[in-house]
Parts: sequence; structure tokens; C-alpha cells
Amino acid sequence: MQTKVFKASQLPAAAAALVAGELVSFPTETVYGLGADATNEAAVKKVYQAKGRPSDNPLIVHVADVATVKKYVSNFPETAAKLTAAFWPGSLTLILPLKPGAFSKTVTGGLSTAAFRNPNNQVTLDLIKQVGHPIVGPSANTSGKPSPTLASHVLHDLSGKIAGVVDDGPTGVGLESTVLDLSTAAPAILRPGAVTQAQIESVIGPIATNHHQVKADEVPKAPGMKYKHYAPNAQVYITQAKDFEAAVNWAQKKQQPFGLLATDAVLAQFTSLPVNYRFSLGDSIVSASQHLFDGLRHYDQLPEVKLILAQAFPAEGLGVAYMNRLGKSAGQVHFKADR
Ligand code: TXA
Ligand code: MG
Repeated sequence: MQTKVFKASQLPAAAAALVAGELVSFPTETVYGLGADATNEAAVKKVYQAKGRPSDNPLIVHVADVATVKKYVSNFPETAAKLTAAFWPGSLTLILPLKPGAFSKTVTGGLSTAAFRNPNNQVTLDLIKQVGHPIVGPSANTSGKPSPTLASHVLHDLSGKIAGVVDDGPTGVGLESTVLDLSTAAPAILRPGAVTQAQIESVIGPIATNHHQVKADEVPKAPGMKYKHYAPNAQVYITQAKDFEAAVNWAQKKQQPFGLLATDAVLAQFTSLPVNYRFSLGDSIVSASQHLFDGLRHYDQLPEVKLILAQAFPAEGLGVAYMNRLGKSAGQVHFKADR
């Protein structure tokens, strides 16, 4: 199969492919998604095949408006009304209880709930409207690899396996949406994202977080939490900005190429290293979040790089989501200055 690159002006062709049961990757403000018509079970099955995704890991249902969600759920709580008013379209995914049979088991992974999201990308909102049904969309990467923040990332992983990708340039946030479980009595964040706990609490009051590291034999709330994630070929070391000099000295002794993933201020200290081994995260937590996955993918193109020193940020605000993804990509391995 030849994978087409659709421009925003070619949306009708992209919508026609989705209606015909094909897979089309779509842009969002977080990462690119791998789209299929959520009401077409055969199409949704292809999503798991193309990604190599375990079949018990349910998919997010992307909708163009709140009214569509109400058609499928058995209960739309007051908290959901307040949160969608405050944050939709945007990077907040809500888990809600479904009417029996609302979606196939392929969409829900056999759960009685589904994850709903209204992405803040006009091209994709138009695409969903043209399709006339919600579209499922996991991140459009090969399972286990960093999520795609550029159409070229999607093509790298899925070219030849999907009908097309709608190219809308780089995504804005760069990290996947916050997943909030509203299907239980106590709302809980299952995955941190750009909509922060403090922002959610300012609308609905205190909530819990439930995005700890899930052990292999544990049943996680979000099935995706138990799988290996964002793993580049090299070993990532989470490194504090102040420890980079010590970390570079340590890495140099290993006599092996290594890569830096850091802010411009940190990189400026190491201009003697090859430019290809100095990937910039910009100058803030916002730019670092935008470029983290691109940086991890950059080093996957350089097989000689076996070690990446990646910059830590304070785990507050957007930094909670950034450190969650960086932690997973590193298998929670930190560079310790006294090693
Ligand atoms: O920003 C995003 O959310 C992106 C863009 C494309 O929208 N999508 C995304 O999808 O990250 P995915 O499939 O890579 O991650 C969805 C996460 C998984 O961890 C999955 O297990 C969890 O949400 N999830 C989906 N449905 C669920 C449900 N009914 N209950 C609990 N967790 C659910
Ligand atoms: Mg994903």
C-alpha cells in the first residue's frame, strides 16, 4: 500500500478513505493519531495490526463536539459538563461509562467505559465532521516507540501500512493528552498531560492521581500503563541540568558515542561535541515537551549512539507530564552525580 500525504486542502479525500474503512493518521495539538471510523469494527482492528498494539489496550474516541459523547455514554456527570466547558477542545481525555454495546469490544478492549477526546486542531475537527462518525486514534507510532509529533514520524513508522496521513505540520504540545477517569466515584488522573491537576481541581475540586509505575502482574486502570513506552534504542539517563558536566565526563570515559537532549543553555557548555549529538530542547518546559519525542527519535537514526543524557525538569505543571514520559523512556534510570 502506498501511503498518501494529504494536505489540509485535501480533507475530502482523507475523509473518504476513513469512510471506506481505511486508516488515516490525523494531526492533533498533542501528537499525531492513527484514525479509523470508530463505528467500523473491521477498520478499528486494522489499527491494532498497523501499530502492533496489544488488543487489550483500548483506544481514545475522538469527537467533534460534546453532543456526540452524550449519544454513547450511560451517564454524563456534572463534572464532565464542567470540564468539557472549561477545556474542550483541548488536551483532556475523559473516561466515561458507556451504554451497553455503544462501541465494539475492539474499541474498548472489553471495558464498559470509553475514553473521549475533543482535540484542539481545526483540520481534524473538520475531518471528523466530514466522516460523520467519531474516529478512534491511538498515537500513530509503532507500539513502544515515542509518539509522533511530525507527519514524517508517522511515515517512518507506518508508511506502507496505512492509507494516508494528514500533514498539518508539527504538533503544539508534543505530549499526549491528560487522561482523567470520571467513571468511578473519585475522579483520578491516569496519565498526566498538558491540562494539569491544578487546572482540573480549579474546576471540580480535589482529585487523585493514579499514574504510578504499574507492575507486570498488576491490573492497571489504564491498560496502556503496563506496556513499555517511548523506548529509544539507546539507554536514556535522566540528568539534572547542574549535573551535565559530570555526566558528560562520565559518558566520555565509556569511549562510545553518546547524545545530549538538553536546553540551549546546557548545550552551550559542550560545543566541542559533534552537532548531531547535541539535540536542542529549546529553552523552557514548553519547548522541551514539544521536542522530547523528536529528540528520542533523532537518536534512533544514529545507531552508534548507545547512551542519551536527557535533561530533567521540575515535576510541576507541564513538567509532571514531561517527567512521566521521560521517566518511561529511561526505564526510570537517573544519572547520579556521585556514580
Ligand atoms: O493526546 C492523545 O491522547 C493522543 C492523540 C492522538 O489524541 N492519543 C493517545 O492515544 O495518546 P493512546 O492510545 O496512545 O493512549 C491512550 C491511553 C492508553 O494508555 C489507554 O490504555 C488509555 O488511554 N485508555 C483508553 N481507553 C481507556 C479506558 N476506557 N479506560 C482506561 N484507560 C483507557
Ligand atoms: Mg500511545
